Amino acid sequence: MKFLVSIIISVVIVLLISCGGQDGKPKSKLEITQEVFGQTESGQQVDIYTLTNTNGMQVRITNYGAIVQSLTVSDRNGKTEDVVLGYDKLENYIQDASYFGCVVGRFGNRISKGKFMLDNKEYTLATNNGPNHLHGGKKGFNKVVWDGKSVKNKESVGLKLIYLSKDGEEGYPGNLNSSLVYTLTNNNELQIEYEATTDKATPVNLTHHGYFNLSGNCKSDILSHELWINANTFTPIDSTSIPTGNLPSVENTPFDFNSPTAIGVRINDENEQLKFGLGYDHNWVLNNVDGTMKLQASLYEPTSGRLMEIYTEEPGLQFYSGNFLDGSISGKKEIIYKHRYAAVLETQHFPDSPNQPDFISTILKPGETYKTKTIYRFSTK
Ligand code: BGC
Repeated sequence: MKFLVSIIISVVIVLLISCGGQDGKPKSKLEITQEVFGQTESGQQVDIYTLTNTNGMQVRITNYGAIVQSLTVSDRNGKTEDVVLGYDKLENYIQDASYFGCVVGRFGNRISKGKFMLDNKEYTLATNNGPNHLHGGKKGFNKVVWDGKSVKNKESVGLKLIYLSKDGEEGYPGNLNSSLVYTLTNNNELQIEYEATTDKATPVNLTHHGYFNLSGNCKSDILSHELWINANTFTPIDSTSIPTGNLPSVENTPFDFNSPTAIGVRINDENEQLKFGLGYDHNWVLNNVDGTMKLQASLYEPTSGRLMEIYTEEPGLQFYSGNFLDGSISGKKEIIYKHRYAAVLETQHFPDSPNQPDFISTILKPGETYKTKTIYRFSTK
């Protein structure tokens, strides 16, 4: 009997070792699962998808607002923790005014006074941020239910999300057919591919609005996170956060992140721009942009060793340092989201482009396809 037990134990051990990864830890299965997350006020069912890669990295995405609800990655000791802010329940996302983890659209960022001219016609949008329009209006892409479909490949799993924004929705012209593909690879990359077509010319500027805190489960603020942004110039703002149109150099200013610098080092400097943004809430003009995928920014948290690298085809990066978080939001696992407990890094075209003739155009015309990709890659050092 004793002999039999020891044979069984040996077999189990051999099986466990043979299922293990290179570091001896059991490998996870590459998979995507789907479950019900809740219902909207009008009774529409909302799902949540869990994407897992072979390293155990996991991303949970809901088709409400295309929101990344959680993103768990290892620290340098292999401890897996959540690195994004958000809520446990759908109800909280329906009420949310902070845009946690969503995709913002039809136009991410601000449009001055909620007005723009296109083909000799003036369009009026909601002014939902002081005198300006922000993140697509009162009911932007973050507040709608997308159609979701799982995608499985050899080395990745993905979720395709589709939404038709009707002509006139939130004041924008044209039926805009939008699609997103979130992909989790075995390389620990979260990739986002955006696509859209329209039947009338319209501004489009889609971006992911994840609130990152790489300490894991929001253990500290983001002031000691080291940020690198490959940008020699930025778009300064007026007192209502609309770009002035100038593109000054970042040299010798708190906006120079050309070598990795802790976010907190200069955030309280005497600087008019930091006053206007109540901290960092600005768009950087990325270097060497030619529409191809480039490594353009990174965020590193020294205690956990977590590093997030951002590859993008976009010309701009909005960095918002969680200045409006004030401890009044209780998020996942009842964690209180305090002042500057997150860094939002939004790859996009420049704010207010529809009113700024010198900025790269954000107008999509019939017959054209809006197509752009951003990758968030996680590792440790
Ligand atoms: C903006 C902030 C705004 C926040 C809303 C960011 O993208 O730049 O000014 O408060 O979104 O959550």
